Amino acid sequence: MDFLKDELMYLKKHNLYRQIKWLDGPQAARTIVDGKPCILLSSNNYLGLTEHPEIKASARKAVAKWGTGAGGSRLTTGNLRLFEKLENAIARFKKTEAAIIFNNGYMANLGVITALTGKKDVVISDELNHASIIDACRLSRAEKKIYRHKDMVNLEKILQQTQEYRRRLIVTDGVFSMDGDIAPLPEIIAIAQKYDALVMVDDAHATGVLGKRGAGTAEYFNLEGRMLIQMGTLSKALGSAGAYVAGQRELIDYLRNKARSFIFSTALPPAAIGAAIAAIRIIEQNPEILEKLRANARYLRSGLQKQGYRLLAQESPIIPILIGDNQKTMQITQALLERGVFAPGIRPPTVPPNTSRIRVTVMATHTKDDLDLALHAFNQVGKEMGLIY
Ligand SMILES: Cc1ncc(COP(=O)(O)O)c(C=O)c1O
Repeated sequence: MDFLKDELMYLKKHNLYRQIKWLDGPQAARTIVDGKPCILLSSNNYLGLTEHPEIKASARKAVAKWGTGAGGSRLTTGNLRLFEKLENAIARFKKTEAAIIFNNGYMANLGVITALTGKKDVVISDELNHASIIDACRLSRAEKKIYRHKDMVNLEKILQQTQEYRRRLIVTDGVFSMDGDIAPLPEIIAIAQKYDALVMVDDAHATGVLGKRGAGTAEYFNLEGRMLIQMGTLSKALGSAGAYVAGQRELIDYLRNKARSFIFSTALPPAAIGAAIAAIRIIEQNPEILEKLRANARYLRSGLQKQGYRLLAQESPIIPILIGDNQKTMQITQALLERGVFAPGIRPPTVPPNTSRIRVTVMATHTKDDLDLALHAFNQVGKEMGLIY
């Protein structure tokens, strides 16, 4: 097993070794990271719903009625009636005919892409798509073609060159998880229609975040009702765990029969379902939470820009600061942590080589004081490390 030591040495030598930070508190605006009180600028809990009293109560109620576990796969013994309530709520929220729950976003992407494509097909994927989409392409055994990030000319060229395949599936993140920018979905759909291709959007970071009601990328671009496979997670802005796929009734029926990650895995525990049902209700009934998230994102972004930081994207609560060098990225994260701010360094293979970055994320539950303190720390660290002048 000497190779383990060698591999770990390699990672350490190239500043790619990962150590998990311990949180001794919830995903709140202020929490404890590695034993230190911190302002949390790393969470995908964008709306702060993991701490919402009604959502916690709904999770507790679900445990009281349905117990702690689902006891099996949905297709065997685990199909608690509670799932139906959540699937109906998601279909209503997304304005689609139907929806199906998966255990997490990773498994949803594996399930959908492997169910829809095989050896005779091609998956056409944006170069910055999430790792779960890349892994799904590998597992599907379909041909994989990568188009340059949001490059519609490149996408169209690939479609022209792949006419002989049985099925073509274009897949894109809605909000790119490490870059925070938004996919040009109207253009993607228009090109797909021209070449008779399917389109799938991964709304992991758009659910609860994009669009007037927070329903995601389709709502943001007024594309609701279009032929679209919409996947999203319950684990980020919705503050729970799990994922969904929403779309046409036949698509959902097909996935229930064909998606192996749905068929061969125990269903989510009732607490997660109870929390997600309440989260959708809270989002629908309290639009001011999303407004607060957007105001906070604007405030933090403009504060960082005024200090001289150059930000990668301006479109979502994900605010990445490009650094490049792996070691320097981790030194900045450490310097911020010492000043009571946790903003994680992101390195390859999560992002392409030489594009390491600080991935700052904002939540609706940050106060102006939290953000001002964080900005003060960024100003000090930025000057010390030669990022701003
Ligand atoms: C774009 C994207 N898709 C899928 C996933 C996987 O979702 P989950 O964490 O629920 O497995 C994530 C994040 O983890 C993501 O950022």
